[in-house]
Amino acid sequence: MKILVIGSGGREHTLVWKLKQCSAVGRIYCAPGNPGVGKLAECVHIQPDQIEKLKEFALDKQIDLTIVGPEVPLVAGIVDQFREEGLQIVGPDQAGARLEGSKSFAKAFMKKYQIPTGRYEVAYDPVEAKKKLKGFSYPVVIKADGLAAGKGVLICQKEAEAFGAIEDILEKNVFGDAGNHLVIEEFLEGIETSVLCFVDGETILPMVSSQDHKQIGDNDTGPNTGGMGTYSPNRVYTESMAKEVERKILQPTLKGIQEEKMDFRGILFIGLMITKDGAKVLEYNVRFGDPETQVVLPRMKSDLCQVFTHMLNRNLGKLKLEWRDETVVCVVLASGGYPGSYEKGIPIHGLDEIPEDVMIFHAGTEYKKDELVTAGGRVLGITAMGKDVEEARSKAYAAVDRIQFQGKTYRKDIGLR
Ligand code: AMP
Ligand code: GLY
Repeated sequence: MKILVIGSGGREHTLVWKLKQCSAVGRIYCAPGNPGVGKLAECVHIQPDQIEKLKEFALDKQIDLTIVGPEVPLVAGIVDQFREEGLQIVGPDQAGARLEGSKSFAKAFMKKYQIPTGRYEVAYDPVEAKKKLKGFSYPVVIKADGLAAGKGVLICQKEAEAFGAIEDILEKNVFGDAGNHLVIEEFLEGIETSVLCFVDGETILPMVSSQDHKQIGDNDTGPNTGGMGTYSPNRVYTESMAKEVERKILQPTLKGIQEEKMDFRGILFIGLMITKDGAKVLEYNVRFGDPETQVVLPRMKSDLCQVFTHMLNRNLGKLKLEWRDETVVCVVLASGGYPGSYEKGIPIHGLDEIPEDVMIFHAGTEYKKDELVTAGGRVLGITAMGKDVEEARSKAYAAVDRIQFQGKTYRKDIGLR
């Protein structure tokens, strides 16, 4: 089986690492990949938004299975375009990708199918938004409707801040077209949980739970990032919580997918807030999470190619996924200054001193001549497995200490919450 993975982050490195272990795997290509991926697969110089080129490549190489990492090509309709050519691809069609591509669409979907979520309003102009804001208490959450690379969600502590957010989105267009309209949402208090699911339109199969740590600083301080680290399983996601989520969230979501006639053979990532009134949906994503994938896939015993094949044949109902009981922790090493501006091209040292049982997933790295250097905000995901969270943390942080680059920034509290 020839496989193409689209994307260049730690998520894609983890996907390639896991796919490499499949019994039916042949060649793996990754577009564009990164230096870590390059040790396992052939990197191809095509960007994730170059859909036409990706399609030509898949046709030319007779790719049997394509897996899309990031959301941008999914929302742009890559799945419809590949399926028109008879190419097998994991992901929702463009109609299904709207669950991530438009927050107002996702909220209306949740309302229609009675899926627990925060109260919300949609507004198209600042006067309307400021009027609707009066119905909410503080803090309040204001979200640009479209894709904003994880930056479009603003948590506002008081009215002046909320007015500023509304003006930024609707008047100053800081998120471009993604901010044509916005969602005002009730602030939900609790512990976040990420639940990634395999979906084939008839069955929804959840993977093990995880928790991201979105803010840059320890104890959830400072601005939001793409994700500074994860652990799995999430200690608040008990078996009884999983059952409640299956009944109140997963099954109604599947029903909605069917009734809206989405061709959803892909990954649905449900961002949950576990509140004192139970689990509520914060958001849907239509892809694997980054860095959730880095802790979920190492726990998966099942053959991922087989899961994807069953998914594409709408046969997931026949599968039982198997998981390791161990805990996995991933600590992200970021560039100094991230999520603001940061320098690139800084040499990275110490990777050859890492014990074999620690997995290093590359994100923003590249080779400059023969030297590995930083090339992005999130640089590496240091990932370790242990019998419990303490053991996984101590292995991961021991490796973190051995890796050096100027400006190295990371959280010390991954998995402690
Ligand atoms: P989203 O892109 O919708 O996941 O939002 C990014 C992050 O903002 C989430 O992971 C939460 O930490 C936070 N967030 C989003 N919506 C809410 C909400 N209604 N209440 C509290 N926090 C939220
Ligand atoms: N870790 C959050 C995301 O992938 O969107």
